[in-house]
Amino acid sequence: ANKLGSKKERTLAMIKPDAVCKLGDILQMICDANLIVTKAKMTKLTWREAADFYTEHQTKSFFNNLVQFMTSGPVVAMELLGDEAVSVWRRILGPTDSSTARKEASLSLRAQFGTDGTRNAGHGSDSLASAARELEFFFPSTAGQGPANTASYSDC
Ligand code: PPS
Repeated sequence: ANKLGSKKERTLAMIKPDAVCKLGDILQMICDANLIVTKAKMTKLTWREAADFYTEHQTKSFFNNLVQFMTSGPVVAMELLGDEAVSVWRRILGPTDSSTARKEASLSLRAQFGTDGTRNAGHGSDSLASAARELEFFFPSTAGQGPANTASYSDC
């Protein structure tokens, strides 16, 4: 903890395929929240990579739908660093379902850039433990591993 009692954390933020075109606005929200982007990768996930990333949800009814969406176009994965980064980024995202998010007074990222419970613009690690796993997934300490840093998009 620092002098004010808050602690620097690292979290994994992912911009989902429906919001990659809004990266500029999203970077501004990150900056306004006093977080910094310490790593970034744009990639088109394979089915296997997306299924692996979301392995904790593999038994859920929405799993195939989720993997389908997450492989429908490029994503942008970022390591964010700052005071209480895990909860701050989750607060920026807002409620999981974008249609629920739009009913709230504050304009969260999902309220602004998502559509519904499937197309919801962004992801954030839900704890320091999942942040560690998810950061290792996108930015592995072993060189040459992880999703390829290649993506193209044409429909913005
Ligand atoms: S759970 O069961 O409470 O753990 O699920 P939840 O936290 O609501 O959602 C976990 C992630 O699954 C995504 N999700 C969906 N994707 C596609 N279609 C449907 N119907 C759906 N329902 C939930 C949701 O966006 C969460 O993704 P992340 O990337 O973790 O935010």
